[in-house]
Amino acid sequence: MRPPEHVRRALLALPSPACAYVYDIAALRARAASVRAALPVPASFLYAVKANSHPDVVAALAGECDGLEVASGGELRLARAAGAKRIVFGGPAKTDAELAAALSAGAQINAESIHELHRIAALGGRPDVVVRVNRPGGGLVGSHTMTGTPTPFGIDPAALPAALAVPGVNVTGFHLHAVSNNLDGAAHAAFVESSLAWSAETAARFGIDLRVVNVGGGFGVDYLTDDSIDLSPLSRVAVPPGLDLVFEPGRLLAADAGWYAAEVLDVKTTHGRTFAVLRGGTHHFRLPAAWGYNHPFTVLPVDRWPYAHPRPTATDTAIDAVGELCTPRDVLCRGRHVDLVRAGDLLVFGRTGAYGWDISHHDFLRHDPPRFIVV
Ligand SMILES: Cc1ncc(COP(=O)(O)O)c(C=O)c1O
Repeated sequence: MRPPEHVRRALLALPSPACAYVYDIAALRARAASVRAALPVPASFLYAVKANSHPDVVAALAGECDGLEVASGGELRLARAAGAKRIVFGGPAKTDAELAAALSAGAQINAESIHELHRIAALGGRPDVVVRVNRPGGGLVGSHTMTGTPTPFGIDPAALPAALAVPGVNVTGFHLHAVSNNLDGAAHAAFVESSLAWSAETAARFGIDLRVVNVGGGFGVDYLTDDSIDLSPLSRVAVPPGLDLVFEPGRLLAADAGWYAAEVLDVKTTHGRTFAVLRGGTHHFRLPAAWGYNHPFTVLPVDRWPYAHPRPTATDTAIDAVGELCTPRDVLCRGRHVDLVRAGDLLVFGRTGAYGWDISHHDFLRHDPPRFIVV
């Protein structure tokens, strides 16, 4: 994936040694519009802030989406500052202070346990809550399967009778986020349909006036190619009248609006393997190390070379793009062929706008952070 001209210009304007994330707001808006166009009608369309919490990204998507999904008190504050039209608060480890802050902000809470339901009830006012359920099945394959298998997320169906009997809260529906990075649009549509059917049947069984079914996020991008999930099967999902069907994707909205670039500080070959050593690494972009894949990059040639000696160079060879940390695990990509790479060039990693900076261990070795450029 090659950066568009305006991103390329922003990267070439960086002072050396260059290291930056570039976030492209027009790309964010365009993606939000295309995702919305593919969703069933009617549906609520939220952005999951955890994918990228840069305030400019959050503000742009607060404007494009019906609201924001948050998973901490910090994200809640960001969502409020961004002027979110609606806030949904999820996550299995909410503190009492976060629950109180969410209720006073008018957020809708997705409750993840019986204990949490009691703690919400203790705050008074009999608030509406949506109950997150780890229901069996769902049939979705992706990077992180969260339901139908033992996870800390949501309530086991066997515990539903006790959960739905907690006094002092008004259960309005179910939250059924199941997976991350699913690439199969038809399977996703089937998951949404089965979520609607399961929710209707469960609500009828427990005498709940079903108003909300939140099917979470999980729309995937393929990091090894330029492909993404085909959302077109979703538009065929029939939404029962009066029901608020909620989607809260993160990755698909933000991934392609982010570019991570790092200058090549050195090029060297040891024991037959060639390395491009970067002013950056997995402490800025942890995803390939966390998931165990090689994140593709392109070489952005930079003509500037301030030294008298020749540039370290590799031609027509496979290189490993490695970072500045003192560990052999600081690898963004192994064995990618390049025609030419020189110290002083930039390696540019596309699809880094989601779960990039936000999930990385920034302070390991205390190198300077990247710059953040919003175009
Ligand atoms: C509850 C919940 N909603 C939404 C999302 C966003 O998922 P994605 O970025 O895969 O669309 C997540 C991600 O983990 C989540 O846990």
